[in-house]
This record gives sequence, structure tokens and C-alpha cells, in this order.
Amino acid sequence: MIARIRGNSKIEGEITVGGAKNSALPVLASLVLISEEIKIEKIPDIADVSEMISMIRSAGVAVNFEKNTVLARPSNLKGEIREFGSSIRASILLLGPLAVRTGHAELRYPGGCSIGKRSIDIHIEGLKKLGISVNEKNDMIEAIFDKVLKDVRIDLRFPSVGATEHLMMTSVLLNGIHTEIRNCAKEPEIVDLGKFLNSMGAKISGVGTDRISIDGVKKLNASVHSIIGDRIETGTYIIGALSSGGMLKINGISNNVMHNVTNELKKIGAKITASENALIVYPSNLRPFKLSTGPYPQFPTDLQPQMTLLACHVNGHSEITETVFENRFRHVDELKKMGADISVDKNKIEVMPSKLHGAKLVGNDLRETATILFAAATADGPSEIEKFEIIFRGYENIYKKLKDIGIDFEILKIDREVS
Ligand code: EPZ
Repeated sequence: MIARIRGNSKIEGEITVGGAKNSALPVLASLVLISEEIKIEKIPDIADVSEMISMIRSAGVAVNFEKNTVLARPSNLKGEIREFGSSIRASILLLGPLAVRTGHAELRYPGGCSIGKRSIDIHIEGLKKLGISVNEKNDMIEAIFDKVLKDVRIDLRFPSVGATEHLMMTSVLLNGIHTEIRNCAKEPEIVDLGKFLNSMGAKISGVGTDRISIDGVKKLNASVHSIIGDRIETGTYIIGALSSGGMLKINGISNNVMHNVTNELKKIGAKITASENALIVYPSNLRPFKLSTGPYPQFPTDLQPQMTLLACHVNGHSEITETVFENRFRHVDELKKMGADISVDKNKIEVMPSKLHGAKLVGNDLRETATILFAAATADGPSEIEKFEIIFRGYENIYKKLKDIGIDFEILKIDREVS
């Protein structure tokens, strides 16, 4: 799919963000643990969610998904899922829970954005401690659950978001076993997952800290949950508006999950106000900045490409260091096609003020595609973005939202081979 973006747009207006992709995916994966009917609201209608729903249906969970609401109930659970899952990273989260419930799980190797090595060694090491042996066979991964006789302690070598969620979910139904996970990730999406599991009767404490304890229970009960707002979608729109000098109101998000981002932006001069469930961004004179990404509450790596765009629009030299993923600067090549002045040195980039012009661009991963979309919207002259369809993996109702904030675009159906 090719999108043509008009350019010279001022991004302003009002939108409502969806539920968080990175909370909805682990929450949906945890539905292989249920024994009674579950209702989950604010599930974003995006491609990654459809893939995860196909996976849990294939594992035997009956799922009805309408109007951002999932109704799910257990039926004949099976551990093997061969036809789905290789396009999303979160598919790995099913491995441990399915192995505990069925004794044997087999999945396609997890996919997702190619922004680094993305190995799963921390997941596997933790599963082993929970009595699960893992075999990697070509593009399949198999897990066999033995039994756990005594309490377990797992020290994560890095506060991995996925490994924290995966091992927490896998421990929930280890009846009578006390599991302690240390050096955990603390992202708001992990807190949301913990809240959902506890609402079904799980016994989890310490979520949101670097030490999580789980006391295994026999079964989980019926429950209703609503997914938190998507802070990365919100951050993308905030930074888009700031880079065009527009005013934008964003509904459906609490500053409780955004403060590490809004504080960083306010530090460089951004005018942002917060109310209970909304944020407003005002035209602001921004100063150059030095930024480093890292595990929460440090600055999120999923907003690093967008901040690179913003650095092009501030008066002075900015510096950005990426510490989470090894290969997350592909947006730099695309921004350079638009005239950006950026130098790369290993995991650090230096950005000089740059007047961007329209160009022919390519979407390579989700956050990079969102970044070049907003770069194109504010650049001088039109741009074309090939592989634009990547954006549907993580941005809900994108057509309507772009229209609502004054971005003029059209979808060209022809998909030319990328030279
Ligand atoms: C989650 O990915 C998010 N995805 C990512 O968002 C996000 O960038 C990332 O956390 C960091 O915040 C979802 O929640 C679905 P990690 P995840 O395990 O779980 C290394 C987006 O755009 N590592 O915290 O895969 C890994 O290679 C996506 O929405 C190992 O080496 O992230 C990476 O360098 C992109 N071995 C670092 O840790 C392991 O076993 C962080 O990965 C696990 C991770």
C-alpha cells in the first residue's frame, strides 16, 4: 500500500486514543488461563490484536470481538498453534501458560518489528525455573511442562517487558507454589495485566516494582476489565502536534501513565496540560535536548523515532541515545531523504535543525512508519510512503484521526516493488 501525504499541514484538533496495544496483547494471551467467562473493554481494533485473537481461538478459547469489547470463555484447550503468530512478538507470551494448562505447547517462532536481535533467552531461562523445558526447532518452539515441587526465584538479567509478563502469567496457576521474579520491568502495561489477573482471583503482588511475587492458585474466576489508554499512540500524536506548532486535545489517556513523557517534553519547553482523562498540547517554543531511552520509568524506546523528528524542529543541536534495541535508527535514513541533518554513531544520534521536504519513503516498522507519516505531514511538499499498511498493526482508526487533525492524505492502491 502506498500513501500520499500532502505536506505543509498544521496538526491540530481533537482525537480519542484507543486501548493500549501493549496491554491488550498480554491480556488477550492470558485468556488461555481462564475457566469462566471474561469481558474486556477498550481492546484496540488493530492488526496485532486480530492476530492474537486468531491464536487464542486456535488454542481453543471462544472469543467474540465487537466494538472494542472481547467476550471470552474457555472450551477445549490445546497447546499447539501452528497457523498463526509469526508476525507478532507477543505470541511468545502464550508458550508458558499453554504448557502449564496442557502439558505441551508448540508455537511458531515469534515475529514482530525487526528493531534488534530480540532474543528470548530470558523467557526460556525463567520457564526452565518454572519446570518447563523449551526446544527450538526451525521456526517452531516447543515447551513441555514437568512439575514444580518447591518455591521458585527468578532473577531477570534485564528488565524485559515480555519476559516479566510471560513468567508472571505462567506462575498464576502453579497451585500452592510461591514464585518471586526479580529485576522486573515496571511498565504501566504490566501493571494493567497484573490488575486484570488479580481481578480473576490470581494472587500477584509487587506489580509495577522490580520485585513481583505470585502465589499460584487452582483456577481463575469470571471478571470484567478495561484496558488502559495507549500512551505510545498518545505520545506519537503529542510529538506530531509539537513538531507542527499546532494545538491538540487527546482524550482517553491518563497522565498517570504519561508523566515520564510529558515531564521530559515540558523540560524542553512544551506546553501540555492534563485533566482526569485527557491531555492538551499547545504551540510551544522548544529547546534542543539530550535524551536516552530505557526501561520504564525512563523515556520509552517506542517514542524515540518520533523524538528524532521533533529534534529536527528545535533550534539547536539535540542528542538521542537508544539503549533498549540495537537496530532502531532506520527512521534516520528516511528522514535524511527529506533533508534531515542527522549523524549516527553506534547507539547515539546527533540531530541538527532541519527544514524537511517531501520525498519517497518506505515504512519498515511500526513506530518508524508513524514517525515518517508525521514528518511527511509537516514537510514542505508532498511525500509517498510505501508499505504504509504497517501502521494498521498498532494505530487504531488512523484514517479518521488523521482527517480530524488536519492531515491530508490519500491511499494509492498500487504497490510498486521497492527498489
Ligand atoms: C515490548 O517488547 C513492547 N512490545 C515493545 O513495543 C517495546 O519496545 C519493548 O517492550 C520495550 O519497551 C509489546 O509489549 C508487545 P523487551 P518486548 O523484552 O517485550 C532484549 C511497539 O512498537 N531481550 O523488554 O519484546 C531485547 O532484545 C513494540 O509497540 C533479550 O535479550 O521487549 C531488547 O533489546 C516494539 N532476551 C530488550 O531486551 C529476552 O529474552 C528489551 O526487550 C528478552 C528481551
